[in-house]
Amino acid sequence: MAKMAAAMVESGEDAFRKIFKFYKRRNPPPDFSDVIDFSRGLPSDKIVPAKLDPSAVSDVEGARVGLRPVRDWRAFGLQGFPGFIFISNPFLLGSQPSWVRRCLKTYPQKPNVCNLDMHMSPSETQDIWGKSLRGLSSPSGKREPKTLLEKLRWVTLGYHYNWDTKTYSADHHTPFPEDLHSLSEHVTAACGFPGFNAEAGILNYYRSDSSLGIHVDESELDHSRPLLSFCFGQSSIFLLGGTRRQDPPTAMFMHSGDMMVMSGESRLLYHAVPRILPAPEGQAALETEHCSPASSNQDGSVVEPVSEEDWVVCSRYIQSSRVNVTVRQVLGPGQRFPETPSSQQRTGAGQTAGYHEGHEDQDSVKRKRRSSCDSDDADET
Ligand code: SIN
Repeated sequence: MAKMAAAMVESGEDAFRKIFKFYKRRNPPPDFSDVIDFSRGLPSDKIVPAKLDPSAVSDVEGARVGLRPVRDWRAFGLQGFPGFIFISNPFLLGSQPSWVRRCLKTYPQKPNVCNLDMHMSPSETQDIWGKSLRGLSSPSGKREPKTLLEKLRWVTLGYHYNWDTKTYSADHHTPFPEDLHSLSEHVTAACGFPGFNAEAGILNYYRSDSSLGIHVDESELDHSRPLLSFCFGQSSIFLLGGTRRQDPPTAMFMHSGDMMVMSGESRLLYHAVPRILPAPEGQAALETEHCSPASSNQDGSVVEPVSEEDWVVCSRYIQSSRVNVTVRQVLGPGQRFPETPSSQQRTGAGQTAGYHEGHEDQDSVKRKRRSSCDSDDADET
């Protein structure tokens, strides 16, 4: 925890909320000097090496989804957080653009569900990418109305998370994307979780002023399976807390390509994203990657080259935005959803309407502000 932030916390109070506000603050800007940066291995006293299983994923299988050989990954644990694994960008050079395009062009398509579906007709949200092309590909000084892509805040995949009831259900399911299933399976296998079955995904789309409220991901019915997180585009501060709101969270940077696995004792910890930050070298790193496409000509590769035309749109979008993908296994082996909706698992401290703090399009922001003040945490909205 940042010393400045730590000094503000008194015992017994909602330490997470205080530190969330500390990092979210714009004026004066917070001190980021104690934020853990795994890409630089700092501070070294909190970071421990994580043990991976390089034999779990062959180099060829990994390369098909754009991953380096597991033996070359830089994977870390955090002192005091057993089961938490941070993998510092294990993607092959040139493979991120293809994942960025999936997040912007492919996954928002039907039958997947997105925030825009909540107040637009299916025909209006049918082709978010196509309808946003003009606005995002033309360099324009003057302020244009926001494109649908810029209004996108979340997309759900597989078992679609119901934000109101905080449940998944058997009758709201569409096929989970095979490419993302395969990436998730390889990453979790390397982390010691063979047989992970990606069943639900939530993509969060962050603008530079977005944040994500304090929450625990506990709606899945089997918590013995890890929670997996990938991110692309701008950087963020991620806060990882404890099982209680009084536990002060640890802050860490998440940069494009980084991955996290929350498992074991870290699976049900409070976490949040208080802030989006510019990527360390501007967009240069990802821009360069597009110029050096990953060698993906092998059979079954999901890392296909991104056309110049598509990349113009992707790169304009991620110059100011971040996309995070969390992947979850909802059911354990042989497990089924409870029979009646009323007996479905409910969450106490889980995600609520406030989860997407600073995330809504203008209409829903207005609606929310009418009913409650701006809140930092998912619990209280
Ligand atoms: C993140 O955006 O890094 C976290 C997403 C989540 O907790 O759901």
